[in-house]
Amino acid sequence: MKIAILGTGGGARAHIAKLAELGHEVHVGTRDPEATLARTEPDLMGTGPFKDFLAEHPGIQLHTFADAAAHGELVINGIDGHNAVAALSAAAEQLAGKTLIDYAVPYVYNPDIAHPWPTPWGVMPTLDPCDSDSLAEQIQRALPATRVVKAFVTQEQDTVVAPRAVGGGDHTMFLAGEDADAKQQTVDLLTAYGWRDILDLGPLVAARGMEMYAHLHSAIGFALGFGTHFGIKVIR
Ligand SMILES: NC(=O)c1ccc[n+]([C@@H]2O[C@H](COP(=O)([O-])OP(=O)(O)OC[C@H]3O[C@@H](n4cnc5c(N)ncnc54)[C@H](OP(=O)(O)O)[C@@H]3O)[C@@H](O)[C@H]2O)c1
Repeated sequence: MKIAILGTGGGARAHIAKLAELGHEVHVGTRDPEATLARTEPDLMGTGPFKDFLAEHPGIQLHTFADAAAHGELVINGIDGHNAVAALSAAAEQLAGKTLIDYAVPYVYNPDIAHPWPTPWGVMPTLDPCDSDSLAEQIQRALPATRVVKAFVTQEQDTVVAPRAVGGGDHTMFLAGEDADAKQQTVDLLTAYGWRDILDLGPLVAARGMEMYAHLHSAIGFALGFGTHFGIKVIR
């Protein structure tokens, strides 16, 4: 299948590598392919230059966001959450009629707030939108002809693409969205990744809870030690 990943960050790279391993034709979107390939320094998260990643993963095609979306039969959004609505809106035509799986968190970095949460790397970002709206719903309103599904967001992406590396895979993945066929496509992809416990939370409004979980995910990560991979299981 032709799958487009919009994004070149660490999360996107986990999907790109896994989808290529599964035999899919992978198209990657970035703002400016030439500029992305010209980078020689790691980004702020310490992720190395994308051209080094491409050299280790031959056969991956790099495009603008819109061109990658045009190539994809299924599209995954891994664009920085604060900039995702604008970037995706610019590719609305290419995304029309397609399933878009969104895993971005609407983080606002270095917030100027009265009661900051100190973290090992500085201050915890705030979420915007939060509580009364979600990034996934904003994307769906901006792209009414696209079928948006929220998924993947409650895990590090290394675990999303290799769930059995944690607890033998006995943990829960969540998804939410309005379109049954789009959710089935997402379930099929998750099953190919190795997920066995997939909980459909219902309509896209449930993305509010999935995105707000980011703070608890971070807190658990701090408690377990930075870099520890873990999952959560809904016992029922
Ligand atoms: N990494 C994970 O395991 C993980 C887990 C859960 C959720 N998330 C969420 O997933 C999203 C992506 O995370 P990530 O770690 O893979 O990468 P990231 O560093 O958060 O985002 C990188 C991508 O965002 C694009 N971008 C940055 N600024 C932009 C702007 N002003 N306009 C348009 N595009 C812009 C970059 O474009 P270029 O390619 O042009 O540089 C790049 O493709 C984030 O919201 C993150 O919180 C990540």
